[in-house]
Amino acid sequence: MPSASRPVRIAPSILSADFARLGAEVEAIAAAGADYVHVDVMDGHFVPNLTIGPVVVEAVRRVTTLPLDVHLMIEDAERWVGAYARAGADLIGVHVEACPHLHRTIGQIASLGKRPCVVLNPHTPLEMIRWVLPDVAMVLLMSVNPGFGGQSFIGSALAKIRELRRMIDDAGLDVDIEVDGGVKLDNIGEVVAAGADVIVSGSGVFGTADYAATIAAMKARAAAARG
Ligand code: DX5
Ligand code: ZN
Repeated sequence: MPSASRPVRIAPSILSADFARLGAEVEAIAAAGADYVHVDVMDGHFVPNLTIGPVVVEAVRRVTTLPLDVHLMIEDAERWVGAYARAGADLIGVHVEACPHLHRTIGQIASLGKRPCVVLNPHTPLEMIRWVLPDVAMVLLMSVNPGFGGQSFIGSALAKIRELRRMIDDAGLDVDIEVDGGVKLDNIGEVVAAGADVIVSGSGVFGTADYAATIAAMKARAAAARG
């Protein structure tokens, strides 16, 4: 089934959750209609922030049946994908810029029975993933420089989403496009209209009072933008 025939999915990023109440926050977004839980893993080297290790992913796994979409912003990803797979990740995303042997790393994720996702920073050309596109379940386009929640959407991401949509459709592949960074209710429509299938939103969900109302409104705007 081509990805565009599936409804747009919302993946709240727990980076913007209240970590002191993480279990309750995950349960709240699940009850509010989230489709995935987006988990931002940062190592203080590849990105200038430090966040979530496998033990936290394991704890999140215990409180939800939603797919865990684990975004690894780390160097030496090959060394860690096994630990995150065992911790309960469903999708594992690795950055092109951090994986010199990207094809092998993607193969490693698939061989662990997980869905491989490849991630590109805002400046990284799509050409970098041409030859692995048939091997991934999803491509994540960063629309901010990774490291922090709450940043502004980088406008050039829209043209990049459109170009990736064309690449995927021209090749007849079933690969989702996920967009991460600065997406909120006010701009989700244009991001979806450009071709996104999965929307990550951290502050755009956790920064609002009523998660269910926010996610429902995001899905309504996404459906309208799909036409
Ligand atoms: C940034 C992370 C994002 C971030 C998104 O490095 O990959 O997932 O949490 O946060 P917002 O939606 O607030 O930009
Ligand atoms: Zn992320």
